[in-house]
Amino acid sequence: MTRGNDVWGKAQGLPADYWTRPAVSRIDNYLLGRSDNYVPDRELASKLLHAAPWLPQMVRINGAHRPRTVHTLARDLSISQFIDLGCGLPPRWMGKAKGYDPGAPVYDAARLIHKAPRVVYVDNDPVVGGFARTMLDEHPTTATVDGDIREIDTLLDHPEITGLDRSRRIAVLLHDLLPWMTDAQAHRVMAALREWLPPGSAISLTHATTEWAPSAMQELVDHYAEDGILYRPRSVDEITALLSPWNLLSPGIVPTGQWRGPGAQGEAHWEHSHAYAAVISNGAQESTSPTSTN
Ligand SMILES: C[S@@+](CC[C@H](N)C(=O)[O-])C[C@H]1O[C@@H](n2cnc3c(N)ncnc32)[C@H](O)[C@@H]1O
Repeated sequence: MTRGNDVWGKAQGLPADYWTRPAVSRIDNYLLGRSDNYVPDRELASKLLHAAPWLPQMVRINGAHRPRTVHTLARDLSISQFIDLGCGLPPRWMGKAKGYDPGAPVYDAARLIHKAPRVVYVDNDPVVGGFARTMLDEHPTTATVDGDIREIDTLLDHPEITGLDRSRRIAVLLHDLLPWMTDAQAHRVMAALREWLPPGSAISLTHATTEWAPSAMQELVDHYAEDGILYRPRSVDEITALLSPWNLLSPGIVPTGQWRGPGAQGEAHWEHSHAYAAVISNGAQESTSPTSTN
């Protein structure tokens, strides 16, 4: 039976069941205590929270990692072009902070180092794309692409991506994105990016892991599966295999809350990361330092 929300979704040009099925972007939004989420998101989130009460910290630590990595890549590797794959709903951000801000989106974190960083935000959730266009993509050097990274070759051919300057370094963020796809899809994405990115580029990855709470993670996998969502947290060996063969930059593969950079010391409960973070590069051994001075 078609429900009212389905008709509304269709009228907006969204998939017919858009508002009646949970969405990963909106579940994160709920776990962060924000308001851009709906009954199906909250129903699934309450089951997830029952299995893993630390989920809000896990999501928050992952979000705080974004400006930290971007700032480090912009400063230490002089990168001023970024692609934020699976960017998610925009973080709380009023664009007013003058210095480093743990809630900043990619452009604002990079702008502390480079005057006009180029940033392409990508997500396959059409409402995320709408929010990104309204809240993130307001500068002449930013763009938003509605794209599915499982179709990585098509995505890399998009004019906003081909418009980047491939004679210079580019950084790609894959933060909490690969767990939402199969092994074959995740490896294909990594291979395509490695082939496409110019020398000196970097890929920043955060990835949920089964290492610390395997049974809770399995419960999450099962709850997502009940709603038709594939969730694939991986072991450290599986994450390492995704990162190979590029150079792993210092400090290596570490729990996200223990990564270096501004604010890194602030993660009192890094064990709630339940994810690893790493940056790889196809440059020569890079001049990154294990600890930040900011
Ligand atoms: C868990 S959120 C992470 C958001 C953000 N990267 C962060 O770290 O806070 C995952 C995001 O990836 C998006 N996503 C999932 N699968 C995708 C795909 N195949 N292609 C593009 N985006 C995808 C979801 O819509 C969601 O916004």
